[in-house]
Amino acid sequence: MAAFNTERVLSVHHWNDTLFSFTTTRDAALRFHNGHFVMIGLEVEGKPLLRAYSIASANYEENLEFLSIKVPDGPLTSRLQHLKVGDPILVSKKPVGTLVVDDLKPGKNLYLFGTGTGLAPFMSIIKDPEVYERFEKVILVHGVRWVSELAYADYIQNDLPNNEHFGELVNGKLVYYPTVTREAFRNQGRITELIANGKLAQDVGLPPINPDTDRAMLCGSPAMLTDISALLDGLGFEVSPGTGQPGDYVVERAFVEK
Ligand code: A2P
Repeated sequence: MAAFNTERVLSVHHWNDTLFSFTTTRDAALRFHNGHFVMIGLEVEGKPLLRAYSIASANYEENLEFLSIKVPDGPLTSRLQHLKVGDPILVSKKPVGTLVVDDLKPGKNLYLFGTGTGLAPFMSIIKDPEVYERFEKVILVHGVRWVSELAYADYIQNDLPNNEHFGELVNGKLVYYPTVTREAFRNQGRITELIANGKLAQDVGLPPINPDTDRAMLCGSPAMLTDISALLDGLGFEVSPGTGQPGDYVVERAFVEK
């Protein structure tokens, strides 16, 4: 049995010159946990060219959604950015990953720290009604260089709280905190700085992040993961080893050049 399904592109949205998202059909047999990733790609010169992509759609949705950067000389994204509706795309049959709520100990506040396309798995997680049953507050912190990289900002702020199925759950529980590093914006600075200097806690109106009450999920570049992990470790957080043993925070380690 082949390891991949061939899906079809249903829609493409370009956020700016460097960032786009797209939706595809979903095989009826594909099952995944919110926060999981799959290998996706294209057939190039008769061979599959694949990279790990977090699934941005929730596990109960009919279609799959992915968020991608456009790297001009990236083997896959230089091609992927030209996707058109109806194009075929390979999607692995076995979603996997360590960014799952099941690997977190119970807690009061859930912090989702994502930079760049590291937002993608959190789009799946903030659409999961169970997450709002487990935590009192869900704080989504998205760090980007430029304002135009704040993908889904309008959806998170305006559509999700009005969702007919769980808008009420989201309302008052989901706190969206976008932050920009290279131009003026209402929140500025790297996530690491905002945690360390207490600005994040102050702005969202919560006590400084601590392992007694808080849990966290991290997704971003290797440098970002290293730095935020070090910060959390220094505050006494324990990372989940990802073997089904719960911890105070979880990290996605599948980030690779695209
Ligand atoms: P900065 O503009 O200061 O580099 P990237 O596109 O490079 O992944 O960056 C996305 C966002 O993550 C940017 O705002 C960037 O800030 C920030 N960032 C980069 N490296 C780190 C890090 N080690 N810790 C925290 N934030 C980081």
